[in-house]
Amino acid sequence: MNLKRLLVPLLVFTTGLLVLVVTAGLLLFPSQQQQSAGKVPIGGPFKLVSHEGKPFTEENLKGKPFVVFFGFTHCPEVCPTTLYDLTQDMAALGKDAEKLQAAFITVDPARDTPELMKTYLASFDPRIVGLSGTEEEIAAAARAYKIYYRKVPTEGQDYTMDHSATLFLMDGKGEFYGTSNFQEPEETRRAKLRQLIKNG
Ligand code: NI
Repeated sequence: MNLKRLLVPLLVFTTGLLVLVVTAGLLLFPSQQQQSAGKVPIGGPFKLVSHEGKPFTEENLKGKPFVVFFGFTHCPEVCPTTLYDLTQDMAALGKDAEKLQAAFITVDPARDTPELMKTYLASFDPRIVGLSGTEEEIAAAARAYKIYYRKVPTEGQDYTMDHSATLFLMDGKGEFYGTSNFQEPEETRRAKLRQLIKNG
């Protein structure tokens, strides 16, 4: 039948067309694929309030590399440890610390008002800015950085917060550069901060 004789050339033609389309696609778009592979979708726009009670967005951090950390002032250990380490790191960086910014974003805005954050942060490096906002604004910032947090009831009417303890290292353009955390050896963390500053 004619149909059977048509099938082979049709298959050859279709396969050839497919190879052509894929090759053309790879030739046309390789750089875009590489670019998107290099960018990690962490960070981005947020709208919060600083511990001075002023509006504060990601635009306030751009221009210099920065460190972002999510936590809460009632945290018994991880947050104060991280903020203490960061304070020590900034002292160790000396003049280079001026080329770095740091933000501490609360995951407990119900208790962490800008006033309370200001009092709390007085124990740490004064360059660390405390950020609070409405529940929705905090949730949006947490989504941008893909961090997890959850309210955990404790005895009585009290509660604590479970949260990711990642220290995000962001470059001067506000793009993801790397991470660190409070369990990392001091020298490793400081080497990363020096690299981040050098990278700009
Ligand atoms: Ni904490």
